[in-house]
Amino acid sequence: MCSLFCTVIVTGQDIDVSKLPAPAARRVDFVKDIQPVLERSCLKCHNATVSMSGLRLDNREEALKGGDLGVDIVPRHSAESRAIHFAGRLVPQLEMPPKGKGDPLSDEEIGLLRAWIDQGAEWQAGVVLQSRPKPAPGSETDKAGVKDSSTLPPPANGKVDFVKEIRPLLASKCYPCHGPSQQKNQLRWDVKAVATRGGISGPAFKPGKSAESLVIRLVGRLQPGLVMPLQGERLTSTEIGLLRAWIDQGAHWPEGLDPKGYTAPLIHWAYRPLARPSAPRVKGSSWARTPIDSFILAKLQEKRLRPSPPADKRTLLRRVTYDLTGLPPTPEEIQAFLADTAPDAYVTVVDHLLASPRYGERWARHWLDVVHYADSHGHDQDRPRDNAWPYRDYVIRAFNEDKPYARFVEEQLAGDVLFPAAQRFIVPAATITNLIRSRSGNITGSRRCLPESTGQTALMTSIPAFMYCGSPC
Ligand code: HEC
Ligand code: HEC
Repeated sequence: MCSLFCTVIVTGQDIDVSKLPAPAARRVDFVKDIQPVLERSCLKCHNATVSMSGLRLDNREEALKGGDLGVDIVPRHSAESRAIHFAGRLVPQLEMPPKGKGDPLSDEEIGLLRAWIDQGAEWQAGVVLQSRPKPAPGSETDKAGVKDSSTLPPPANGKVDFVKEIRPLLASKCYPCHGPSQQKNQLRWDVKAVATRGGISGPAFKPGKSAESLVIRLVGRLQPGLVMPLQGERLTSTEIGLLRAWIDQGAHWPEGLDPKGYTAPLIHWAYRPLARPSAPRVKGSSWARTPIDSFILAKLQEKRLRPSPPADKRTLLRRVTYDLTGLPPTPEEIQAFLADTAPDAYVTVVDHLLASPRYGERWARHWLDVVHYADSHGHDQDRPRDNAWPYRDYVIRAFNEDKPYARFVEEQLAGDVLFPAAQRFIVPAATITNLIRSRSGNITGSRRCLPESTGQTALMTSIPAFMYCGSPC
């Protein structure tokens, strides 16, 4: 019975995602925004003991694995996520919670779930969900659930001294798990730079705003299901008041208190958050039309060089056309550009070139080189690979559709999981070489190269995986 039914669901036909409430337009926090929704509305039937349709939502790994129908949550793609289709009641007979078995989610809750998925379905490490029925409105537990910052002990009066009053407190109650020996959630309170940067959830305190600071919400029991210290003696009201006052007074932390010999661990640039550097200030900066120009000008000046004069229109057109399509401009295109005296003539040309199918053909070549793509076998066995071109066309299409890079890589590493029922040609990493190796002319399956548990390694090794998958896996 299911096979017929499931096809409908899995292939996404008959699902009108435009009916879904829009994703919430803000950054969501799993513990604050998502955990309560799942715990109230879903956990009862999707947990470690009861897992309807094979789906567990109690921890991230299981939740992303999906259930009998396959993947239900597709990070960054809420509109393609079955969990959203079901919670949004788009699929008859598969409303979640099932009809009569629980209240439908509100539009706001669906918006939050969507935003959470679209933002990557982050899930603080170690948070395990438990079923928590919705409290009756106005009941004691309900009040506890909506505790706001007014329940926090007030900030202490008087100027707080970090060294005398705060540091000893952190040392006795927090260092055991956030100090030299352990750094839970990558947070340590004995190193200024790490404490101010925060752990995996981001900054733990906002100078001047104690009531909004994560650390205060955690020690003050405002965060559902989590309290700090996780074990051991809780902070007294006086201690919380001191911490609050320290944060409200600007979270002053004198230099020179880090443990002796501490050196910040090197973090590869790829794992750092994106930051916008400020453009260097340079003399003669009227030449610079964009902030990027300021960087170029600064380097030129450092080497005692002057910028070249602007190119004439014909040269400019030739350069940009080669650059974006790999071809020279046609005589007609040159005439048209020379005749176009509008101030944005160049912008028009660039838009036109980017929209050209030639753009993808030119730029796909770089990626195809990286993955050692070829239309024929090469060496002494040189013969056509009749079935290689769909991959080539997929890459070209990806460039022309402006597919985000992360998605492009994701599809190639995990296409089989992302599109379990796909009929069309999807390219997981291993197939590239499989496909190239296969002499029978068949596309030999869609195995992924890396075990699921090695997410990090997968990132590090995705390029070698693309290139060398054929033999090891
Ligand atoms: C009262 C029990 C119950 C609750 C509560 C519930 N579900 Fe379900 N869920 C089910 C059952 C039963 C199925 C199997 C449905 C079927 O195949 O007909 C299911 C199946 C699913 C599936 C398909 C899993 C797969 O891949 O096979 C998803 C996704 C899902 N539920 C999501 C949710 C979400 C999200 C919530 C909370 C908003 C939720 N469910 C709440 C009972 C429940
Ligand atoms: C017994 C161990 C333990 C102690 C002691 C402890 N913590 Fe934690 N802390 C944890 C664990 C585990 C987590 C991660 C919890 C999670 O996300 O599930 C955490 C997370 C945090 C976070 C969130 C970090 C992030 O970015 O996700 C903050 C802030 C925090 N702790 C502050 C404190 C403070 C302040 C103290 C002392 C008052 C303290 N902790 C004491 C174990 C501890």
